[in-house]
Amino acid sequence: MPIQTPLPADSPAMQRLLHGTTGIRYGGDYNPEQWPRATWVEDIELMKQAGINLVSVAIFAWGLLEPREGEYDFRQLDDIIDLLHKAGIDVDLATPTAAPPAWFWKKYPDSRPVTRDGITLGNGSRGMVSPSSPDYRRAAAAITEQLARRYANHPALVLWHVHNEYGAPISDSYDDDSVAAFRVWLQNRYGTLDTLNEKWGTTFWGQVYGEWDEIDAPRQSASVTNQAQRLDFHRFTSDALLECYINERDVIRRFTPDIPVTTNFMATNCLSADYWRWSQEVDVVANDHYLVAERADNHVLLALDADLTRSLAGGAPWILMEHSTGAVNWQPRNIAKRPGELARNSLSHLARGADGILFFQFRASRFGVEKFHSAMLPHAGAETRIWREVVALGQSLGSLAPVRSSRVTACVALVWDTESFWAQDFEWRPSAELGHRERIEAFYTVLWNRNVTVDFVHPTSELSGYELVIAPSLYLAGPAASENLTGFVRDGGHLLVSYFSGIVDLNDTVYPGAAPGALREVLGLTIPEFLPLHEAETVTLSDSRTGTAWTDDIEVSTAEVLARYVDGPAVNGPAITRNSFGAGTAWYVSTKLDGDDLDSLLLDVLNTAGIDAARGVTGVEAITRSTDTDDFLFLINHTDAEQAMSATGTELLTNTAVDGTVLVPAGLTRVVHSAR
Ligand code: GAL
Repeated sequence: MPIQTPLPADSPAMQRLLHGTTGIRYGGDYNPEQWPRATWVEDIELMKQAGINLVSVAIFAWGLLEPREGEYDFRQLDDIIDLLHKAGIDVDLATPTAAPPAWFWKKYPDSRPVTRDGITLGNGSRGMVSPSSPDYRRAAAAITEQLARRYANHPALVLWHVHNEYGAPISDSYDDDSVAAFRVWLQNRYGTLDTLNEKWGTTFWGQVYGEWDEIDAPRQSASVTNQAQRLDFHRFTSDALLECYINERDVIRRFTPDIPVTTNFMATNCLSADYWRWSQEVDVVANDHYLVAERADNHVLLALDADLTRSLAGGAPWILMEHSTGAVNWQPRNIAKRPGELARNSLSHLARGADGILFFQFRASRFGVEKFHSAMLPHAGAETRIWREVVALGQSLGSLAPVRSSRVTACVALVWDTESFWAQDFEWRPSAELGHRERIEAFYTVLWNRNVTVDFVHPTSELSGYELVIAPSLYLAGPAASENLTGFVRDGGHLLVSYFSGIVDLNDTVYPGAAPGALREVLGLTIPEFLPLHEAETVTLSDSRTGTAWTDDIEVSTAEVLARYVDGPAVNGPAITRNSFGAGTAWYVSTKLDGDDLDSLLLDVLNTAGIDAARGVTGVEAITRSTDTDDFLFLINHTDAEQAMSATGTELLTNTAVDGTVLVPAGLTRVVHSAR
């Protein structure tokens, strides 16, 4: 019988994972192999105190589980899993394949990854292997099979955690196995060398290939390397890593066809994996998120990451697999979280669709490179503020069980396309100011400040459920994306496009004719010339807005001009346009707007699209999760003062009735449950 992927949400094992406890799933990575057995017993007592009901084990235990190739020792892991089970704590069992053992490197040195500039990386760390190494894939499948066979029927097992953060810290490898696999991948994609030569534009700089084995990985070269080749190498790398995941998942499926399998994503980290493809292969989306400690708006970036994760999950509940209770250890300045921040962060993820809140890690390590990373249980032990906050969060999550399975809905979507980001990030683009991430964050922040909930979409996703789609930076848009966005507007949707979008096709080739080839028709304009600005140069628009970084020389065909440039290189030319197209409308903004200028533009667009965007209380995040019958309004107060917010129903964290107004204390969260 074919095994279904993903497992149906209503299957008993998925229900058990997400509903099998009295509260929300709560816990973290647990690495007991770093401690004596007496400590495990103490840990488990503390876990019970905190209401922990799920821990991830064995993530980095390969060297202990298989001390010599083909020789296994599961005594310690048996003991740990049994102890956890006796305490009523379920297990998210990892395959330990992110850190192969020392014997593996000695025996299979060719599996070591090679960087783009030719350095073969050594061991003594983790996450470093060529994803195309047949020796690695075979060894990974072997340890996975042993684990799956041994623990298939263990009652504690509720979830499989394959590997750890595929692609981190490095993803692409320029070793011989990768080059050979890349050639096969290209043969599958293009069929013939003639097609490849055409798609890669190899007549440029005389790069024409006559034999497949002339093709190399796009390693560091004398000057800028063929960008179509580099883009394909990114795609190939994402696929090669995904094959590693599927290789292990399919072994697991043979032994536990019903137990959900996942791997932890890093949703907004686009270095290595095109998660739109990956999310099709996991039973439940799991994500790791760490604050950028020094950014004052890091809670907004957290919300962005959580919204993207929910979108990757297709709106279904997801699991926050890792975040931190306090400081991490790998940023330039590892700023500690302030009192209450741990809960605010956790509940923001929950508000945006998470049905599990886990941390890295349960007990802080005393040795190893992460000894200065925070944990649920700090070095200083249980008599600490962090531990008290961990226990309090466990209680809160216990009260929030009714929220499980409810969903967040949005009528605005932001386009997020990893392939476009990869392509835009290559060298020799028209301006160093062209940052897709910067633009997405700018648009997202304006919407967050107005408490407009957004989903993220791939440009070829079904869009008919949205009133407004925004493409803050979509440099690459293939024909399917072009048709999809154009069709969305034709059918009555509202589309807002920011500069340097729709420029190239899937091979990073400029569309024929004037820019923006993929969006010319829907925007009703052409751009004969890009006119990027000097560093720190500003331009003034006829509506008094100020632009920076970029302008275009625009010729409108059917679009109407909403604002013109009053100075700068595009003086007198259109700056912001609107095109009525079919039953819908498409806006184009050709310069970088920020702050109030971007906010007022978005407000116009939101109003035209019929979306309520009245500003609420600044700094109070309001987001609703719903079922067919119930609403759960999360009010997260990021300010230093108590805020009175409108709501009616029952406040779940304090179990009190709310009649019209709920007071949300400074830094705290309230969750008001009401019937729809
Ligand atoms: C994650 C990783 C964990 C731990 C954590 C520290 O990226 O999966 O194993 O290293 O970072 O922040």
